[in-house]
Amino acid sequence: MDRIIIRGGRRLEGEIPISGAKNAALTLLPCALLTDEPLTLRNLPRLADVDSFGHLLNQLGVSITVEGSKPKDFGRVMTLRASNVASTVAPYDIVRKMRASILVLGPLLARAGEATVSLPGGCAIGNRPIDLHLKALEELGAEIELTAGYVRATAPKGGLVGGRITFPIVSVGATENALMAAVLAKGTTVIENAAREPEITDLAKCLVAMGADIEGLRTDTLTIRGKDKLHGATYAVMPDRIEAGSYACAAAITGGSVLLGGARRETMPAILSGLTDAGVHVADEPGGIRISANGEIKPLTLSTAPYPAFPTDMQAQFMAMLALANGTSLLTESIFENRYMHVPELNRMGADIEVRGRSAVVRGVKALTGAPVMATDLRASMSLVLAGLAAQGETQVARVYHLDRGYERLEEKLQAVGADIERASDG
Ligand code: EPZ
Repeated sequence: MDRIIIRGGRRLEGEIPISGAKNAALTLLPCALLTDEPLTLRNLPRLADVDSFGHLLNQLGVSITVEGSKPKDFGRVMTLRASNVASTVAPYDIVRKMRASILVLGPLLARAGEATVSLPGGCAIGNRPIDLHLKALEELGAEIELTAGYVRATAPKGGLVGGRITFPIVSVGATENALMAAVLAKGTTVIENAAREPEITDLAKCLVAMGADIEGLRTDTLTIRGKDKLHGATYAVMPDRIEAGSYACAAAITGGSVLLGGARRETMPAILSGLTDAGVHVADEPGGIRISANGEIKPLTLSTAPYPAFPTDMQAQFMAMLALANGTSLLTESIFENRYMHVPELNRMGADIEVRGRSAVVRGVKALTGAPVMATDLRASMSLVLAGLAAQGETQVARVYHLDRGYERLEEKLQAVGADIERASDG
């Protein structure tokens, strides 16, 4: 397994190009199943999860061609075509490694009338149930059976039928599965209390480009008039707001000045307002958003919640930044039940953080000290990298495969703005 080695204390200066959004890519890829025509996706990030999803789609009969690109280019152009659906089974050995595989459930049901998908199981940050996905599909007429660790879903003979789906809590994935199923259902579907994350809007825009009839984009009520068929399209993945937020924290924690190239302000309201409240300077510039800091971080009280509130995927990164604030911050994680595994590792670097149930009290310290630390999940890994960038001395982050799931060429992007960071292989 690889390690990331960081020698901290350097101010970051320069531009970091923001890649296509992982969480948009992972819901756009399965859209290829909804038509027998080619779907071309541009600006796809080079990430382990994108590759794994491509492998799963291959198994389902989707042909994939990747346009040649120079090694230094970020992002890829991928053309996917499901002329026929060769299989409707998403096996355990793939789903267990990438829970987003559950997002083939809706499209397979819509296109092929059936799907057998391994239950994704929990992960490091929580048990991650899929009951809301299944209830939503039942509202569209699907029959759901759970056997031997698999979900077996079957559409009615004539195909899925439009219905009313009211989510009791906001779920990004369940909204995505419902949306992808509804676009080919007979009749009209209304999805209430839909997630409003920008990645959902990206999905809806791609589906509309494929001929779907969807109203209510960016709102919590989506109305979908089902079509008999969708056609192919070309669609560019939105820039990754969480990657952008993560590198904004890198500028803040090192007292640097970084241009987030291609970042879209309108997709990251709570992230940018959180940075501003922490005393970080945020300014629009041609080509992106400039993040500048003078080394002074103000403490914050923040709670994660569904979009447009402060995103759970930024909690660990903000915690690393607030570990060096002039005062005590209070962070509350309201989405996942176990998303504080970065805390013990940050404390080993000299942070003073105490977890109390769903909240973490972060008492700012003067400095962090580099140490060997262990990544446990994607965003926790990034918080350790951020702490290492600011810490005195050397930090070694082990199990960086977590990072490779969500950050395209991280060390290259950080080296380009002055970080002393490298990847070492454990052989
Ligand atoms: C998506 O996960 C993202 N993943 C997550 O990003 C993100 O943290 C999460 O949304 C919240 O924004 C992708 O898009 C691939 P949810 P998802 O359904 O869809 C509960 C990252 O770091 N719930 O919105 O799985 C669930 O347990 C990853 O990039 C049910 O109870 O999240 C959680 O408490 C991590 N039943 C809450 O809802 C269900 O059927 C929100 O989960 C589904 C969810």
